[in-house]
Amino acid sequence: MSSTDQEKDLKILKEWFPYTTRPFIANAPMIGFADFRLATAVTKAGGLGFIGGAFNFSAESAQLAKLDGELTKARSELGITDSGTLPIGVGFITFTPTGFEENVVPLLEKHRVSAVWLSFPQSDDDHGPLISAIRDAQTRTEWSVKVFVQVGTVQGAATAAEQGADVIVVQGIDAGGHQWARGASLMSLLPDVRGSLGNVYKVAILAAGGIVDGRGCVAALGLGADGVVMGTRFVATEECPAPPHIKNSIVKAQDGAFSTVKSVQHDVFQSTDVFPRQYDGRALIGISWTESQSGVSDDEVIRRYKEAIKQGEDHRRTVWA
Ligand SMILES: Cc1cc2nc3c(=O)[nH]c(=O)nc-3n(C[C@H](O)[C@H](O)[C@H](O)COP(=O)(O)O)c2cc1C
Repeated sequence: MSSTDQEKDLKILKEWFPYTTRPFIANAPMIGFADFRLATAVTKAGGLGFIGGAFNFSAESAQLAKLDGELTKARSELGITDSGTLPIGVGFITFTPTGFEENVVPLLEKHRVSAVWLSFPQSDDDHGPLISAIRDAQTRTEWSVKVFVQVGTVQGAATAAEQGADVIVVQGIDAGGHQWARGASLMSLLPDVRGSLGNVYKVAILAAGGIVDGRGCVAALGLGADGVVMGTRFVATEECPAPPHIKNSIVKAQDGAFSTVKSVQHDVFQSTDVFPRQYDGRALIGISWTESQSGVSDDEVIRRYKEAIKQGEDHRRTVWA
């Protein structure tokens, strides 16, 4: 990949999202954390704002009903009165893809979102039909939408490019939240993905994982990214709907190498262990982790977590970061 090719890809992002400034920055579509308020603030500031959409795609999905309302509010917040493209993206967790074509695509089409983000499939092949469903709707109604796929390996990037993704988000293992259990840091993964895609596919590449400021952004661009995605940094903002103690814990945390850990146990401890086993997650070391390390059984840690929630206390809640 020559620097001229990377310049071309940088231009493509500007062409696709003309309202964005350089460097291209998007917030991660964090379900439960990236709502219309955060997403519109990011877009207004020159980035591409994403809303965390859903992982339940059934006709009765409360997540999809909520998303419908969030997208209406986003259009109004941005003061867009016509029915043109909404400069907001929506992200989906795809390990249970049933219902995507029937219930998700029409909703996205209705709101004319400018980007759809797919992440964490059961198998990489599962994204093929979802991308085709978006493309079918796109040609039917001249809907201008770009498909983002988050990947954690070179193989995942190759599959996403073959399936027709427009933007590949390369997630390194510094990332907060869920991620590939077998992965690599951006330092090695990003140049590897950039090199492997070469000139064969016309895709833009974004970097995600551990980026919080200009230094990380410059480093990612140097490693071959066309822009960056940040998750944790956006949780610690006024616009994010996370409870204050989660934001404070992130701001107060020092030395992420020591104060966070990548493990499947974070989900186990709060009985939300639904991700397929190729994924784990990075979070701050909290009470549950410390108790577990000192020999308390998983069952007892879960019991204590549930009891705390019943008492209205969420200090045991996982702080993805
Ligand atoms: C609180 C939190 C929630 C997240 N939720 C999602 C999600 O719903 N879907 C998704 O694709 N990625 C999710 N991620 C991962 C992000 O897509 C992204 O890879 C990550 O935030 C980048 O690393 P950073 O947090 O160090 O910036 C989440 C991350 C965090 C911190």
